[in-house]
Amino acid sequence: MTFQHPSFGLISDDRVVIFDTTLRDGEQSPGFSMNIDEKLRVAHALAELGVDVIEAGFPVASTGDFESVQTIADNVRGSVICALARSGGKRDIEAAGEALKNAERSRIHNFISTSPLHMKYKLRMEPETVLEIIAKGNQQARHFTNDVEWSAEDGCRTEPDFLCRCVEMAIKNGATTINIPDTVGFSTPEEIQAIFAMLRERVPGADEVIFSTHNHNDLGLAVANTLASIEGGARQIECTINGIGERAGNAALEEIIMALRTRRDRYGKSNNIKTEKLLGLSRLLASITGFDVQPNKAIVGRNAFAHESGIHQDGVLKHAGTYEIMTPESVGWTSSSMVMGKHSGRAAFRDKLQSMGYKPLEEAAFNEAFQRFKDLADQKKIVFEDDIRALIDENERGHNQLQLVELEVQAGTTSPSKITLTLSDNGEIKKVSTQGNGPVDAVFKAINEAFPHQATLGLFSVANVTQGTDAQARTTVRLEENGRLVDGQGADVDTVVSAAKAYLHALNKLLVKRQRTAPEEIIS
Ligand code: KIV
Ligand code: ZN
Repeated sequence: MTFQHPSFGLISDDRVVIFDTTLRDGEQSPGFSMNIDEKLRVAHALAELGVDVIEAGFPVASTGDFESVQTIADNVRGSVICALARSGGKRDIEAAGEALKNAERSRIHNFISTSPLHMKYKLRMEPETVLEIIAKGNQQARHFTNDVEWSAEDGCRTEPDFLCRCVEMAIKNGATTINIPDTVGFSTPEEIQAIFAMLRERVPGADEVIFSTHNHNDLGLAVANTLASIEGGARQIECTINGIGERAGNAALEEIIMALRTRRDRYGKSNNIKTEKLLGLSRLLASITGFDVQPNKAIVGRNAFAHESGIHQDGVLKHAGTYEIMTPESVGWTSSSMVMGKHSGRAAFRDKLQSMGYKPLEEAAFNEAFQRFKDLADQKKIVFEDDIRALIDENERGHNQLQLVELEVQAGTTSPSKITLTLSDNGEIKKVSTQGNGPVDAVFKAINEAFPHQATLGLFSVANVTQGTDAQARTTVRLEENGRLVDGQGADVDTVVSAAKAYLHALNKLLVKRQRTAPEEIIS
């Protein structure tokens, strides 16, 4: 069987559309906010990975969100760029259409809640009103693009007859993709498979649209529910890199993709993902958001392919298939993680960046990155790929209001630690000297003095980027201000410098978040 898709043309039944929502649902989760430059980098990497649809954001939520979607639509090619909008929001669909104006191919994704609980308590609407809004929302979206997705928020807890009526209404009024989210991560694989099978059987026009699945991980079932949905007839998968997202997160893209590939015998579905880029994207996102994945995370965790037991090691040496169901190389792990030293030149550095999947840097950015690599190589004998990643990721953070210029530390066992810190606040140089209980306490006090704010520290953690006593330290700092959470990250061979960088990164993110208005404030 084949299907005529508004963005992809004729697609066969064995194809699943990969819809990534890292930049929307993922970015919505506490502490994960990104600035425009960071979002653009992730969007380019997602397009190169081969995702079919990139959900770039929720334009009506704030000027910052609008500009990020617009920037991605203007610059990223290869994937359909999608924007989220409430079906009944006053300006949502218009804002989405406007932000997507220059996209190569665009999609508007409109949604409204359909479960009894959400309609009664959240929307305070009667079911008939919800049906009217579904009709209007999809009609309005079709003025801007032929590719329109509609979502039944809390769809998996919606009464089946009403869900069928809602889906039918969305299809009649122009939706081409129908998404049934498990918004609160409540469903089980058997239930969700049955929901899709039921909709495909009962709803008139169901064979003219693509059904989509979107699963949250509150019970740890997001990936299992996604795979079960495919067996129920869903042909679009909504997911995020590293499984980031609201609360316990969304279904992890890398896990679904490798399950589909490794178990093609069972699912028989194809997609366009270049799996050897999965690890690079996971690392890029971890570095930008400040959240490393846990070591035992499937596919991209550092232990995912590590065999500790002697019996396993022996087996793998004799035949990799004894304990490995996929090769580490197929998802981007390379055996040569040791790369360069202080004698490596510009050409070798450029080659290395390319082999690690980075786009060629502009000359000025390359020169800056190369200088930082040389400085690092002076401090560290061996520079690993992970060191280079940390260095480039810091280099690429784009313009930030607060920047570390200089830091002098005096610490020891006999007296309080003393710090002299110089930072640039939008180009204005500020120099302060303070002391504290240890150098990290002193450096945070110095930053607070140079840039007073009300945010409180929620988390402070330090990990090593690679092995050895000369390894770079990667610090994560979480700040909270009026319910807004942000995480900042910094890496440096000096732990105190890495802490200062992380603190400033978190403050810079907070400054971006302050510009945002909550969507509820503009609800119609
Ligand atoms: O989880 C959810 O219901 C959503 C919708 C907006 C699709 O993210
Ligand atoms: Zn969601």
